[in-house]
Amino acid sequence: MNIFTFNSCWRYTLRVALINHNSAVKNIQLLKIQNRSGSTMSEKFKLPARYGTGDKSVWVEYIALASEYKPAVNLGQGFPDYHAPEHVTKALAEITTGDNPLLNQYTRGYGHPRLVQNLAKLYSPLVGKQIDPLNEILVGSGAYEALFSAILGHVDNGDEVIVIEPFFDCYDYMIKFAGGIPKFIALQPRTNKSDITSADWVLDEKELRSLFNPRTKMIILNTPHNPLGKVFTQQELELIADLCKKHNVLCLSDEVYEWMVFKPHKHIRIASLPGMWERTITIGSAGKTFSVTGWKIGWAYGPANLMTNLQVVHQNCVYTCCTPVQEAVARSFEFELARYNSPECYFVSLAHELLAKRDYLVKVLKESGFKPTVPDGGYFIIADWTDLEKKIDLVSEKDKYKDYRFTKKFAKEAGVLTIPPSAFYSEEHKHLGEKYARFCFIKKDENLALTEKLLKEWSSKKTDRIH
Ligand SMILES: Cc1ncc(COP(=O)(O)O)c(C=O)c1O
Repeated sequence: MNIFTFNSCWRYTLRVALINHNSAVKNIQLLKIQNRSGSTMSEKFKLPARYGTGDKSVWVEYIALASEYKPAVNLGQGFPDYHAPEHVTKALAEITTGDNPLLNQYTRGYGHPRLVQNLAKLYSPLVGKQIDPLNEILVGSGAYEALFSAILGHVDNGDEVIVIEPFFDCYDYMIKFAGGIPKFIALQPRTNKSDITSADWVLDEKELRSLFNPRTKMIILNTPHNPLGKVFTQQELELIADLCKKHNVLCLSDEVYEWMVFKPHKHIRIASLPGMWERTITIGSAGKTFSVTGWKIGWAYGPANLMTNLQVVHQNCVYTCCTPVQEAVARSFEFELARYNSPECYFVSLAHELLAKRDYLVKVLKESGFKPTVPDGGYFIIADWTDLEKKIDLVSEKDKYKDYRFTKKFAKEAGVLTIPPSAFYSEEHKHLGEKYARFCFIKKDENLALTEKLLKEWSSKKTDRIH
């Protein structure tokens, strides 16, 4: 760049800065203008109360953190950093450039016909009931929107919804958007053992019973569980099922990690328990099932009379989801159903592949001074970091909760990004998550090996601050 272009660029930048400054001043003046009813614009256009304080979600905050600090490994958000099965991604490529132009146009609003037919084929034997693909399945923009449609479609003003903590953080907001009241109960590690597994995290039966009352509309279950990796047992599910039946309560069962269960544990669908199909809406995710989280296709299934409420929300929210992606998910299910239960079937091989990664990361974490809870399912590990507190100075981080301070400082010092689990608790129970960090292990082996190296380097550089 010569001096003339430099000067004109600089003058242009200055002019833009001045324009921005002037319009900011105008905006402030506008905000102060009183409207006829006497309220200022800033009062009138504030965030509606049902959205709470409008704080950024942990995902928004930690993705921004990752782009700012560029940690060497990102074990934060739950997605694989390697390729999905080839037949899955190839299907999408073929569909978008193939002979049928209609596969790039709108499809049926409640779910692409080929996809709902395959979902019915897959789930009918698993829940022991012939599912009607057109009336008992809804396809949404990820499991996220399926959850949204289920909660907004069923929860009314003043309804109570029982939420098991730690919980996938959006449940709480969705319940409040619907005017409902979340009632929280925490899974807690009730054991004296030093080697904890996710099965050691249990609900207190008396406390659970006490939450059910005539105002209870719904309980949200998540099995296999994010972030603990807990796979609810038959006995635990029967207790929840009995309470739902006794108090006429719906069960919203988030089962997006349904194929990631480590033997001898078994995923049990609560909808398959006696008398539960009638009162259960089950949620699944193509993103989790086929390792394509960016595709954002999910579904809800349940009895037609419950599903109509979800259809009302969905048809006036997103109306219909991406056609070629739904077609690709449908073809992927056909491919896997043809080799269902064989060791090559992705529903089997994924868990096998993840087991080795889980064991490796558990070993690395233990060697580095963390105390991990070994998960029986899913792809996250919760690890207690408090033995490392003497090595890390958290004073420079200003967050309210200690796990936020630890995970931020740790990302900056060790180059390993994790997620603070207090984000998965209600305000009154956040302290229960503060001593943990959540690590995602569906990552390339080389990145898990890099984690080991980084943790060792970090540990050797740090001398205990407190002796
Ligand atoms: C428990 C749970 N439910 C739902 C979702 C959302 O799934 P999707 O990406 O299909 O919207 C996630 C994603 O991490 C999750 O962990």
